[in-house]
Amino acid sequence: MHTAKISGAGHYVPERIVTNDYLATIMDTNDEWIKERTGISERRWVENGDGNTAATMGTKAAKKAIAQSGLETSDIGHIVFATISPDYYFPGCGVQVQESLDMGTIGATDIRNACSGFIYAMSIADAFVKSGTYQHVLVVASELQSPFLDKTTRGRNVSVIFGDGAGAVIVSKANKGEKGIMSCHTHAQGKHKEELTMKGFGTQHWIGELLENGIDPDIHYPQMNGNFVFKNAVVRFEQVIGEALKKNDMTSDQIDCLIPHQANLRIAQFIQKRMGLRDDQVFNNIQKYGNTTGASIAIAFSEAIETGVVKRGDIICMAAFGAGFTWGSVLMEY
Ligand code: UT7
Repeated sequence: MHTAKISGAGHYVPERIVTNDYLATIMDTNDEWIKERTGISERRWVENGDGNTAATMGTKAAKKAIAQSGLETSDIGHIVFATISPDYYFPGCGVQVQESLDMGTIGATDIRNACSGFIYAMSIADAFVKSGTYQHVLVVASELQSPFLDKTTRGRNVSVIFGDGAGAVIVSKANKGEKGIMSCHTHAQGKHKEELTMKGFGTQHWIGELLENGIDPDIHYPQMNGNFVFKNAVVRFEQVIGEALKKNDMTSDQIDCLIPHQANLRIAQFIQKRMGLRDDQVFNNIQKYGNTTGASIAIAFSEAIETGVVKRGDIICMAAFGAGFTWGSVLMEY
């Protein structure tokens, strides 16, 4: 059995900044409400015609991650791509990255675990490397959500939260003595599948229905039972971080940096308090990027490295919760 580690990271966000004040011009909302309830000041939304898609943003993030790892694309054995906002209904975005980066015929796995997507992707990459199947796996998480939000007052509880962007890491075989990824934990509870969902365009709500009846917001836009999701999120975050610490016989004071899925700053602050973590032990950037669903941890991790918050040798805990419900954590020495 081998050990896996992260050898490189990168991220990309679209240039267009969308402020809370701008949103207040298109729906009944305001900067004060959004900041107070979510901590978000602005987010990035793609601009029509800027060429950004989940696959192209993911490719840009992947290029940076590969460059940071010092590897060549030809060293990568497999791609795992997490998104719930793919370019095509099928095939998934993984094959698009493979084509764009000229990666021969390596395999590409696509997963769609929403806000937990990056954690699930990491757990797959970790297993591939641990088992010796591949030496280097490219993990990409990318979301292009802004075109699918209900940007009227009806959809304001959802649309003010979400943003676009991508992050990527390279999961590589660790050298002897390196701790690397110590554990991955993933969970799901399908009975809550409709508490946070976009039902269209699954096969139960196919295109004919839309052509016949027009857009039905309950089906064709994301719907979230915000309070219920919030209450479950804080419980599951704490549980799954606790599970990681217990598995590794560690305590929360040994975490150098917790990178929670950037769902809502209030959720992150709640977990921080419950776990007794100092401000410098938690990294948040939702203030600038909003909630980028599956991409948020990957973007935050890459930015934390870029800004010197996360350094080699640090103990990092990543944790996510979201639609499904699904949740999970990764504990590692970076
Ligand atoms: O990433 C995946 C996981 N997602 C999450 O973890 C998100 C979890 N949930 C949340 O973050 C919060 O529930 C929200 C930020 C989505 C909503 O905050 P809330 O404090 O739960 O607000 P609420 O939905 O209970 O709404 C409170 C009030 C309502 O008005 P009334 O009925 O009290 O008059 C809403 O209509 O706030 C109103 N409201 C807004 N007002 C201004 C809802 N959205 C907005 C808005 N601007 N954007």
